[in-house]
Parts: sequence; structure tokens; C-alpha cells
Amino acid sequence: MSAPLVLGIETSCDETGIGIVRGRRLLSNTIASSMDEHARYGGVVPEVAARAHLEALQPAIEQALAEAQIDLHDLDAVAVTSGPGLAGALMVGIGAAKGLAVSLGKPLYAVNHLVGHIAADLLDASAPPLEYPTIALLVSGGHTSLLHVRDLTTDVELLGETVDDAAGEAFDKVARILGLPYPGGPEIDRAAADGDPRAIRFPRGLSRASDLEKHRYDFSFSGLKTAVARWIERAEANGETVPVADVAASFREAVVDVLVTKALNACADLGVPRLLLGGGVIANRRLREVALERAAEAGVTVRIPPLSLCTDNGAMIAGLAAELIAAGRAPSTLGFGADSTLPV
Ligand code: KG4
Ligand code: ZN
Repeated sequence: MSAPLVLGIETSCDETGIGIVRGRRLLSNTIASSMDEHARYGGVVPEVAARAHLEALQPAIEQALAEAQIDLHDLDAVAVTSGPGLAGALMVGIGAAKGLAVSLGKPLYAVNHLVGHIAADLLDASAPPLEYPTIALLVSGGHTSLLHVRDLTTDVELLGETVDDAAGEAFDKVARILGLPYPGGPEIDRAAADGDPRAIRFPRGLSRASDLEKHRYDFSFSGLKTAVARWIERAEANGETVPVADVAASFREAVVDVLVTKALNACADLGVPRLLLGGGVIANRRLREVALERAAEAGVTVRIPPLSLCTDNGAMIAGLAAELIAAGRAPSTLGFGADSTLPV
């Protein structure tokens, strides 16, 4: 059989992503985001996201088919994210995927969003093939996870994840404290450009020796966010002007430091000299810089797919299903639902 033609649907958060692949060849990657609608709330509102998916799905599917220049009936399979993510948002994508698969009489693959982020790497035609094993660090507004990938289709192990806020969520919340608009990541990145990352020593979550025993690969960002809020309150109470650039740079440094340190610890502990980065926070310039610098010192090679494949998208979901099909995996039975905490 030639490489399967798969349409993937991603609706786990605020991006309605439709992607079409033929095996590892990317044919289209359409994304409609409801980010603007969440801006006035300073974060993603689950019901707003679900309603936006409902409206965006049909035009996004049509656009993806037009871009890929294929007909719906040419598809070999349909794929959809079944978790983890926002339950209501996931359900919209799952409903659409089931409808499509049943009406076309094609197999349906329910896939894991986090593993999808790893599959995104395979669609980067400019990069040499992904080598196993690899450590993967996935950082976005919805998740912060460290994974040990021995084989994409059969053996992905979650090493650790955030115990509270996701890294992107921390950027968004701290931006709000600083009076910067949503989404906060790019705003903080910009504000930090003129700041001194060593101006304020903010805490590195779960990094004390006593934390490392139980949480060596876990992350925590809510204490950091509180520390930033307290620091600003104290400065304002003393009548000082808040040095926004220094606060932004010092906060960003604390996040980046802990992400890179824990990811490289995993590489060293497990003897894996490869690190794959994914998720929307990878857009952070300092994170890329520090990861590349410190990985080079540690003899670890870093892979960063293009940003359009790092942020939530449907192509990675289609790509993962194509791998599962190639590995001989049976399709999902139609009884599955949304699982907001789906394990890898
Ligand atoms: O993967 P993504 O597009 O989707 C969701 O999580 O839904 O990631 C979005 C997150 C937001 O929290 C945003 O603030 C963050 O990624 N982000 C950044 C940067 N660009 C986007 N965080 C830090 N620095 C950036 N340059
Ligand atoms: Zn994601």
C-alpha cells in the first residue's frame, strides 16, 4: 500500500487545526485560532473555545482539502485528538471526526495530543529522520511535559509534567500582572529584550534537592508567578517604578533555566543525547538560545521543527495516525470519547 492519505482534526485547546498528510508528506496545515476571543479574559475560556471550534471546523476542512488539492473521498483515514485537552473543545473535534469517518466509510484513529507534538517533527521535510531514543520537551499554554520517546508508535513514556500552571500559562499570567496584553509569551519576550536577566533572582520551581527526589522531571510555575506579583507589589508600595524589562527578563530566565535544566538532566540520566522541542512556547527566543547553548556543552543535539508545526495543529495528528497505520495499528472503535487527562 502506498503511504496513507490522512486528514487530522485538532481541537484540544483554542486552535482549530485541520491537516492533511500522505505518510510523512505534509499536504496542508490549516489553523483557525480563537485566541482573539480569549484575549479579554487573559486566558483560554473553555466554552468560548468549544463554540469557536464548532464554527471554524467546516470552513477549515474545506480550506485544507483545497490546499491539498484532494477530494474528501480520496482519504484513507480520519484522525482526531481525543486528549489530553479541554473536554468540551475535544468533543467538538471528535464529533466531527466520527461524522466524517462514518459517512465516508473510512477508518478513524483517536490519537494522543502530546504524542502528536512529537510526530510533528516527522513532517519537517528539511530535517534528517528522527532518531530514537529521544527526550522530548513539550511546552505550550496547555501543557509542559517531558517525555522519553523510544518509538513514536509503541513506546512513549511520560517522565514528568507541570504540577500546576503550564509554562505558556505562566507567561500569560505574568504578562497580565505586568499590564501586557494576551497572549503574554511574545509580549514578555519583547519586553525582556531590553532587560537584565540577572536583575532579580526569581525561584526555580521544584529545583531544590528535597524536591528533586520526587519531582526530578516535574515542573511548577505558580510559585514563580506569585513571586513576580509579590516583587511588584513591594516595589509599588515603596513608591518605586516597576522595571518592566528587568522583571520580564528575570522571569523569562527562571522559566527557561528550569525547562532546559530538567530536559538536559533527563538526557544525562537516561544516556540519551537527543532532545526534541515542541509546543508554542518554543517561539521564545531565549528558550531556543539557552537550549541550543547548553545542549551543545552537554553533547546533546537539539531538534526544533518549524513553528507552524510546533504550535497546536491538525497536521501532527494526521502525521501520527499515518505512522500508526504504517505500524499496522488497528483503527479506533467508535465508542471513544474525550479524555482531558489521556495518558501517553
Ligand atoms: O502551542 P500553543 O500555540 O497553543 C496552546 O497552548 O494553545 O501555545 C500558546 C502558548 C501561549 O501561552 C503563549 O503565551 C505562548 O505559547 N507563547 C510564548 C511565546 N509565543 C507564544 N511563550 C513564551 N515566549 C514566546 N515567544
Ligand atoms: Zn499542544
